Amino acid sequence: MTPLKQLSRQNKQHLYTELEQRIAALTDGESDQIALMATVVCELHQSIDYFDWTGFYRVVDSHLLKIGPYQGSHGCLQISFDRGVCGAAARTQQAQIVEDVNIYPDHIACSSSTRSEIVLPVFDKHRHLIAVLDVDSNREASFDTTDCHHLERILNATFTRD
Ligand code: SME
Repeated sequence: MTPLKQLSRQNKQHLYTELEQRIAALTDGESDQIALMATVVCELHQSIDYFDWTGFYRVVDSHLLKIGPYQGSHGCLQISFDRGVCGAAARTQQAQIVEDVNIYPDHIACSSSTRSEIVLPVFDKHRHLIAVLDVDSNREASFDTTDCHHLERILNATFTRD
């Protein structure tokens, strides 16, 4: 396995381009959000070796997230918008990239092996926040702007369709 540090931007872009195409094909014609979440999580988690926990937290009321489809060890069931990396992504509606969770204030550790994390807001076609996508890695500094850009593309293509 190529050590992650040596995974160049070009390699990541190629990986994500193929993923975008596969997810588009797998979800073609589907509009049910849970079905879409389950398919996206499954494909992302199985395709990228530094994704050690991959899942959605759904917006269930104005300031609360509840767990949705995920792959990996057990995740906490609910998260307030005031807590953790997921809450920050929901509150700010901005992607959060955490290179070292051990120095992130108020990080919620669902697994002691997590070292880095990326969380992105998920919007529907009306630009309403419907969830956040949370990805944990057991390696430090796994995520960068290339991951963020391509994950945003996948989420927009999947959840803003008519
Ligand atoms: N680390 C997240 C909580 C979710 S578990 O990682 C699956 C956070 O700080 O919001």
